[in-house]
Amino acid sequence: MIGLTVLVLLIPSTYCKEYVFPDNFKFGVATAAYQVEGAWNTSGKGENIWDYMTHTNPSSILDRSNGDIACDTYNKIKADVQLLKNLGVDFYRFSISWSRILPSGKTDYINPDGIRYYNELIDELLANDIKPLVTMHHFDQPQPLEQEGGFLNLKLADYFEDYADVLYKNFGDRVKDWTTFNEPTLVCFLGYSGEFLAPMITRKDGGYLCGRTLLIGHAKAYHLYNKRYKNDQGGRVGIVHDIFWFEPRTNKIGDIKAAEAAKEFNFGWFAKPIFTQEGDYPQIMKESIARSSKLEGLSKSRLPQLTQEEIELIKGSADFLGVNHYTTFYCSPIEDDTIERGLFYLPDMDANCIVDDKAESSATPWLKVIPSGFRKSLNWIKEQYNNPEVIILENGFSDAGNLLNDCPRVNYYNRYLTEMLKAIYEDDCNVSGYAAWSFMDNFEWRSGYTQKFGLYSVDFNDPSRPRTPKMSAFVFKNIIRERKINWSYTPDGFTKCEWPKSKDEL
Ligand code: BGC
Repeated sequence: MIGLTVLVLLIPSTYCKEYVFPDNFKFGVATAAYQVEGAWNTSGKGENIWDYMTHTNPSSILDRSNGDIACDTYNKIKADVQLLKNLGVDFYRFSISWSRILPSGKTDYINPDGIRYYNELIDELLANDIKPLVTMHHFDQPQPLEQEGGFLNLKLADYFEDYADVLYKNFGDRVKDWTTFNEPTLVCFLGYSGEFLAPMITRKDGGYLCGRTLLIGHAKAYHLYNKRYKNDQGGRVGIVHDIFWFEPRTNKIGDIKAAEAAKEFNFGWFAKPIFTQEGDYPQIMKESIARSSKLEGLSKSRLPQLTQEEIELIKGSADFLGVNHYTTFYCSPIEDDTIERGLFYLPDMDANCIVDDKAESSATPWLKVIPSGFRKSLNWIKEQYNNPEVIILENGFSDAGNLLNDCPRVNYYNRYLTEMLKAIYEDDCNVSGYAAWSFMDNFEWRSGYTQKFGLYSVDFNDPSRPRTPKMSAFVFKNIIRERKINWSYTPDGFTKCEWPKSKDEL
């Protein structure tokens, strides 16, 4: 009998769905300035690359929309913070609009209304016991800096450091968790070597030039904080990397190598220089970019080498690792032309990575529901980077926005969070917090308002932009309250979800 009791007591700790979130685990929700703020030219704000692109080239956005008004969070601080409070979150991840603070991108003029706006937001959050977690750059650098070459120009690393200085000076007495850049891989490849994000520059070396600027800008902002602010303010500075999971399409060696290459191009590119003892870019990137540059007859590699001084500057320049994870791709070598070019492809990367057509879909073509990839990503980070402290700063699911009873989103959160719990309890991954993307429906970049990621629905046809909680908002709130995944929870007023598989199979 005693033996049986011991066995029963042991079961919850090995049966993943019963795991409870650790006491000190923090929950939050996330947004980004251009996607939610609106007020694009109010009270001294300058133009950023998204203002410029959406206004000069409206057809670059699927529904020809823009972020001029977006969710109008600029005018709704108090009401929105009450929604956050109601969710019960510990922190709110938002980004600061560089152009709202420094209209020209430089410190020649600091816009007082920008300082006022973020002061009010920060104060209101703290008054409601919610910690601000601030991202300094989420895709939206000032347009005037683009006239100087944008992130192709290394000088922007200095301008970024100056901007960070203004932020620490004005907000650092209350903001203790900073992140410099959101998703540098996407900023650089999709913005400067591809056509998916502003400024839509397509230079083959663009991504790498941009990458060097972001790494150096990040490191400068990190060291500035340590030198000048950390003692008094006691905060910390990290960076936010996107990590997709990459599986080989088959167990052929070529496919295995392709998946490894994709991991390095996607994540290692920015993580290895910062989070490893030796620093610098991943070897596989250096080799394949050098190889293809040579084949093109170039005298040197398109990947600009980091000097030893730069390597030292960048190495170790983060107090924690912010991670955005959404989905998994399946890779094979590029020369396998039996397979169409997939949705994840970076030039020079000898891998073609496609989505799994059979997996459950969202409204976003690249986002398939593959929860196991989340746990694998966390394990890979643990192994490759010596188990750094990880805070998940984005994870979420899109639909077309017509569903308040959003069972597919609830399913996504329950399953991905279950995988994260397994990574914490069964694999000892050092994950200390989680922010859902997103707090509310918002401007989804090139897809405009056609893909909705919010826990709150926003009526973009109504000038007052009313917010309505979806079922997932209540479920997320319940997860925070109960500190576990509860598949049978159905909030009042909503219809119970039919899960595609039985709970035990999930
Ligand atoms: C970005 C968000 C975006 C989300 C969904 C992330 O890559 O940081 O701004 O809305 O993906 O596409």
